Order: sequence, then C-alpha cells, then structure tokens
Amino acid sequence: MKSTVINTHKEMTAFSDFPPPGHFQNHMHNSQIKQYLYMYAENFDLLSHIRYKHEVVNVSKADNYNETGRWKVTFKILEQQEILEEIFDGVMLCSGHHSLKTPDAFKGLKVLVIGIGNSGVDADVELSNVAEQVYLSTRRGAWVFT
Ligand SMILES: NC(=O)c1ccc[n+]([C@@H]2O[C@H](COP(=O)([O-])OP(=O)(O)OC[C@H]3O[C@@H](n4cnc5c(N)ncnc54)[C@H](OP(=O)(O)O)[C@@H]3O)[C@@H](O)[C@H]2O)c1
Repeated sequence: MKSTVINTHKEMTAFSDFPPPGHFQNHMHNSQIKQYLYMYAENFDLLSHIRYKHEVVNVSKADNYNETGRWKVTFKILEQQEILEEIFDGVMLCSGHHSLKTPDAFKGLKVLVIGIGNSGVDADVELSNVAEQVYLSTRRGAWVFT
C-alpha cells in the first residue's frame, strides 16, 4: 500500500547474493522494495522467464506423474485468448499477500479491522484516509511504539 514501510532491516530482508544499494533507507519504503526486486530480476536475467498477461486456468498431474512428479499447466494467453498446455517439473502457487493495493473500495464506509499485527495496523493507516470510521479490534492488547 502507499504508506507501507517494511518493518525489517534491509540487510536482514535482502537476498544474500544481492544486497540493496547503500543509499536505500534501512527500513525500505515499498517503492524501494519494488525497485530492489526489479534490480534483482534484471541482474540475474529473470525477466526473460516471466510471462505476463498469462492466466493459469488449471493445474493437474501430468500423465506420467507417478514416474516423473511432473505437472500439466493449462493457461490462457490473455492478449490472444489462446489456451495452451505445458509440462513443468514443479509448480509453486504464489497467490500473493500484497493484493490490497488501495483502500478505495472502503471509501465512506465504517470498517472493522480484526487483529493488531502489522498487517492490521498498516491497513488501518490506509483505510483512515478514505473510510468514514475505522475500528481496530484486539483480543489481548499490544504495545504500539511510534
Ligand atoms: N510493514 C511491514 O513490514 C509488514 C506489514 C504486514 C506484516 N508484516 C509482517 O508479517 C508478519 C505477519 O504479520 P500479520 O500482521 O499479518 O500477522 P500477525 O502478526 O500474526 O497478527 C495477526 C493479528 O490477528 C489477531 N488474530 C488472529 N486470529 C484471530 C482471531 N481468531 N480473533 C481475533 N484476532 C485474531 C492476532 O491476535 P493474537 O496476537 O491475540 O493472536 C494478531 O493481533 C509479521 O512478521 C509482520 O511483522 C510486516
């Protein structure tokens, strides 16, 4: 989200083979983390392996799964609406916990956020800019340092 700053130190958060630039702040703003991830991907030539605008529609065991452990992935190339299949040795499902990017859907609403972990508090900060009222509930209290 717009205001999110990571709560772990950049040296702890970094990939060990690619430290973030020295001038990045110790607790990086999300825009610097995004920049860092792009720099990592460029440095290790990962971008050529990423397929954008592809929607996975099915994942199933390949016909020879028992011998190979492989998976059959069916996907749609969105720009051409073409459906294809491909066999992969492994599959990771990374549906992402970074999907709440803006609080706009909560504009003018009364919102209850349950839990006082970092996710709850970060969400509160963003929601408080647009919601009519934001309530934060906690079942056992917490220290908040500002
Ligand atoms: N800006 C950042 O860098 C950032 C942002 C988000 C998350 N994180 C990190 O990601 C990790 C996870 O953080 P998180 O906030 O997603 O999770 P979390 O720290 O586990 O917090 C979850 C919160 O939900 C409450 N909760 C869970 N189940 C509940 C229930 N059934 N009823 C009522 N309350 C319930 C917990 O209460 P109890 O404590 O009583 O169980 C706790 O307050 C942490 O390491 C955090 O530092 C970092």
